Amino acid sequence: MITAKKIPVAKPRLPPLAALAPYIERIDGARWYSNFGPLNQELETRLAARFGLPAQGVVTIANATVGLSVALRAAGAQAGTLCVLPSWTFSASVHAAIDAGLTPFFADVDAEGVLTPAIVRDALKAAPGAVGAIMPVAVCGQPIDPAPWNALADETGLPVVLDAAPGFDAAKAGQGLSVVSLHATKILGVGEGGFAMSADPALAATVRLRSNFGFSGSREAQVAATNGKLSEYAAAIGLAGLDEWPARRAAFQAVAQRYRRNLADLPAATLPGGWGQDWLSTTCVVRLEDPAATMPVLDALHAASVETRAWWGRGMHTHRAFADYPRLALPTTERLAQTVLGLPFFIDMTNEEIDTVCTALREELVRCS
Ligand SMILES: Cc1ncc(COP(=O)(O)O)c(C=O)c1O
Repeated sequence: MITAKKIPVAKPRLPPLAALAPYIERIDGARWYSNFGPLNQELETRLAARFGLPAQGVVTIANATVGLSVALRAAGAQAGTLCVLPSWTFSASVHAAIDAGLTPFFADVDAEGVLTPAIVRDALKAAPGAVGAIMPVAVCGQPIDPAPWNALADETGLPVVLDAAPGFDAAKAGQGLSVVSLHATKILGVGEGGFAMSADPALAATVRLRSNFGFSGSREAQVAATNGKLSEYAAAIGLAGLDEWPARRAAFQAVAQRYRRNLADLPAATLPGGWGQDWLSTTCVVRLEDPAATMPVLDALHAASVETRAWWGRGMHTHRAFADYPRLALPTTERLAQTVLGLPFFIDMTNEEIDTVCTALREELVRCS
């Protein structure tokens, strides 16, 4: 029996040795390996330019989980208060809130899987205690418009930290902090890494202080802090990644667009609005209209050697570590958990692989209808 080669759900590819070599040589020459050395400084400057921020508006960080925790503290979230966040997210968002001394308070999302200011306003009225922070999430990398969140922060006096971890492509920085991941699985990856950014350089400076032992200009710890710095080696990968970014993005986009074309006439399976058109991320998720189709579709994809992943599981409120935290009714989260499937998506996915995935999906959905 011939078994088809499995199509993995993800297959990250970071810049190759030749692209890294000039940057590694610079590290060898400078003998500066971490502590916001020259490569980190250059990475921050280039990222700031890309996101239209002042040079001091970006701070590199060891990973987005640490970045979110530090950002919550830097934004002034008071330990012991509640952090409103969606259950429809990755566990890192929740861990970061807990690590910052906050109690996660799970709210529902809209039909696209997004926490909105309207949902948060309702959550604030129903909160079982004092709320100290709000953390919207760029689900699957879809861009978050910071403007309504800036307005909500002004209206409520609460810090809003945007978890834009999967959102490098289209992330935007507002007056508050946004945190982006540079994990290997992200569209721009360095292995482990990330950055925090804000239009307010003072906030970014506080993230730097709190990710560097509380040091600023001397070796005296000025505030409670951690070590969340990014090494120069990771910064080298980030710089090489930025060099190849236009080609990298175009290659991802070609894969995403073929998915969109293949599934355009299949109303039973919807890709996120704008994905592959206005924005990109490395998660390709389809939402099935009929929850009853999910199991047969998963079986059919499995039989076609297509790997799938439930990226957010059944929602964070169902995880053992988070089950006791307060939450509101989560009907949309629960429906999304039953109907959203992560499909294979990677930079060098062949047309044949994309077509195999889409054909298996289509045939089973037609059979189920
Ligand atoms: C929504 C969300 N938040 C946070 C993270 C954590 O990022 P990192 O792996 O850089 O800590 C991720 C990573 O996938 C994520 O998807």
